Order: sequence, then C-alpha cells, then structure tokens
Amino acid sequence: MKTRAAVLWGIGQDWKVEEIDLDPPKAGEVLVQMKAAGMCHSDEHMVTGDMAIPNEMAEAMGISPMFPVIGGHEGAGIVLEVGPGVQSVKPGDHVSASFIPSCGRCHYCSTGRQNLCDLGAAAFQKGQITDGTSRHHVRGEDLNLFAKLGTFSEHTVVAEASVIKIEPDFPMDAVCLVSCGVATGWGSAVQRGGVKAGDTVVVVGIGGIGINAVQGARMAGAKHVIAIDPVEFKREKAMELGATHTFSSMAEAIPALQELSWGRMADKVVMTPGVLYGDLMAEALTMTGKGGTCVTTAIAPMTQTHAAVNLFELAMWNKEIKGTIFGSLNPRADIPKLLGLYREGQLKLDELITKRYTLDQINEGYQDMRDGKNIRGVITFD
Ligand SMILES: NC(=O)c1ccc[n+]([C@@H]2O[C@H](COP(=O)([O-])OP(=O)(O)OC[C@H]3O[C@@H](n4cnc5c(N)ncnc54)[C@H](O)[C@@H]3O)[C@@H](O)[C@H]2O)c1
Ligand SMILES: [Zn+2]
Ligand SMILES: [Zn+2]
Repeated sequence: MKTRAAVLWGIGQDWKVEEIDLDPPKAGEVLVQMKAAGMCHSDEHMVTGDMAIPNEMAEAMGISPMFPVIGGHEGAGIVLEVGPGVQSVKPGDHVSASFIPSCGRCHYCSTGRQNLCDLGAAAFQKGQITDGTSRHHVRGEDLNLFAKLGTFSEHTVVAEASVIKIEPDFPMDAVCLVSCGVATGWGSAVQRGGVKAGDTVVVVGIGGIGINAVQGARMAGAKHVIAIDPVEFKREKAMELGATHTFSSMAEAIPALQELSWGRMADKVVMTPGVLYGDLMAEALTMTGKGGTCVTTAIAPMTQTHAAVNLFELAMWNKEIKGTIFGSLNPRADIPKLLGLYREGQLKLDELITKRYTLDQINEGYQDMRDGKNIRGVITFD
C-alpha cells in the first residue's frame, strides 16, 4: 500500500513528509494504522547527531546504513492486519507502541527485565526484527524505522513484539504518551530510583519525561518533589502535577535544597534534561545526598565518554549513579498498569499534551519543543 511518513535523510536535516510504499506484514508482524504519535526528544537526537551513525561510518563498520529513517517511537494505533503466527493481537485491536520490543522468552524478558529484551539489539540498523528485511520503501530504497517502530507514519508494519494490546476505550493521544515518556519518567523515579514515602526527590528537566518523574515521585509519597527547569511554564506545570518546589537551575536549587533537607540533600535525583552532557553530573551529584541515588535517564551524545564525577565522594558517601532505559519497567505489564492509573484519575495524561499537530506540521512541532513551548507535542492522524 501507499502511505505517508516523516523521513529523516541525514543528520542536521528537517523531517520530510514522503509518500512511501509499505509491504503487507510477514510472519510475526502487524500492520498498524497510527492514531497518535508523541514528539519525544529522543527522535531529535537523530537530527542533532547525538544519537546517529552517519551512513559513511555505518558502511565502515560493516552495518546497514541508518538513513533514510522514519522517526517516531511514541505511538498508539489500531491493528489492521496480522501476519502468520501472530498471537497477541488481531485486526481491530488497539495497541500501544513499545520502543523496546519484548519477546517474553529471552534471558532478560524471562527475568522480569523486558526493557533489556535481546530483540532491542540492532536498533539503529535497517530491517524488521523478524527477518531483517524491510517493509517500508521510498523511491525504491529501503527505509529504517526508529526503534523498529516509525510511528511518524500514517501506517506502519512492525514486529508483534513491538506492540502491546490495550483496552479500546482509552484516548489514543493519551496512550501514545505512555508508550515512552510517561513510562520512562514514572519508572525513572518509582522503579529505577526506588522513591519511597518521605523521600526528598529532585527532577532536573521538565519535558515529557521529567514531568512524569514528578508524577511518579508524588505517587510514591515523596515529601519534597523539587522540579528544575529554566522555562517558567515548565515549572508551573510541574507544580500542577505534584512538585512542591521549583528552581530555574541546579545552581539555584542547591542552597535551597540544603535548607529544605537540613543539610542531607536529596535521596533521589532524576536527570531528564533534553541532552545529558557530562558536566551536568557535578551539580547532580552535589544534590545527591549521602547514600542517595542519581538516575540518569536523559540521553547523552553517543561520543560523550567523560562526566564530572567526584569518585572519592561517590565512594565515601556511598552514592550510586544508575542509568535507565524505559524507566526500567516491563512494557507488557507496565503500559497497561499506567493506563489503569490514568483511568482511576491518579495519573494525569491529558494535561501533558500542550499542542496537537498534523504529520505535515512535524518540523513546527519539533521547533516548539526546542523553544521550550511544549510539555509534549502530539501528532494526531485522522
Ligand atoms: N532512557 C530512556 O529510556 C529515555 C526515553 C525517552 C527519552 N529519553 C531522553 O530523556 C531526555 C528528556 O526527554 P524529553 O522528551 O522530556 O525532552 P524535552 O526536550 O521535552 O524536555 C527537556 C527539558 O529539559 C530542560 N533542560 C535542558 N537543560 C536543562 C538543565 N541544564 N537544567 C534543567 N533543565 C534543563 C528543558 O528546558 C526542557 O524543558 C532526552 O534526552 C530524551 O532523549 C530517554
Ligand atoms: Zn521517547
Ligand atoms: Zn526478550
């Protein structure tokens, strides 16, 4: 079939909405009509080159080229068709995308760590998870799919492992947020950070991810939820969704945190700025108290190998730094769980959507993200 998708042809370029050719699903694959796709900062890392392998470099490494690639990994849609052997969904089912596939059988899935599923390997290379060949083509060339999904597309074909069946009455734009931003932020605080009742928690960077770390910390019973962002609107939104204090920078927060915590600083610090540069870690660890945990969720440039970490203090004050992908949650269990919390009114999703865009307005949407105008911008398909 013919469909339309936002394609990135190389680092530093704009998204280009193209008519593409889409093959029917093969064994273990599903055809999904996308209904909503969130504009997460992670797709932007391909545009800036923070998280991208130039085609020449891929060639030198002997792997398939990354570009052209269909963006988008936050998504929700309806299954139109399934290939042979698909068992967990059928045509008509509503699904959430999962930017981490989960096979349910590998070492990591079967030990409760679906966020580390082995099917996530080769994420930057072309080809379906199932057999390594492509279903998406533009002018005769195979297209790559960001996170093996490509949700910035009116229709997409993905592996069954990349979709999670959800109850059909949820609004699709709310569902798409859970598929990455909500789960990642909430899990960064609650699961990876292990926030407990009474904790003092700091969240640095209030976008689609950080705002959900704020919600998670509140739901886990944190005493103080301190949200840091240079943009005033983000700080206001954080207060609406559970923050107790806000600051415009870590430097401004540090003396106030000292006062608030009687010198003990934070139990948990969650790092969710747009880009995690190594030098940000010095202040992050100053805010992390003795025995405290600093969770690094934001993506750093792939080539960033140094961070400002005082290793003496790390050891002597028994601190820990923990990376996380997908907030260390299990997509198959936790996407439905978070939607259940939304149904009961405990988790706010509608309030996270600042503006809706058409697929053709994608570059405007990303410019608004760069300008700090959106908690989350969402592309809706009609
Ligand atoms: N680990 C994962 O699984 C995972 C999943 C999704 C996204 N991410 C990453 O999380 C990060 C956040 O994503 P997002 O979509 O929320 O981004 P976003 O651009 O919507 O929000 C980032 C926020 O950080 C603020 N900010 C930037 N520098 C700051 C600083 N020094 N101090 C305080 N605030 C600062 C910005 O003003 C903005 O409000 C990105 O790096 C993204 O790629 C990681
Ligand atoms: Zn994301
Ligand atoms: Zn697996």
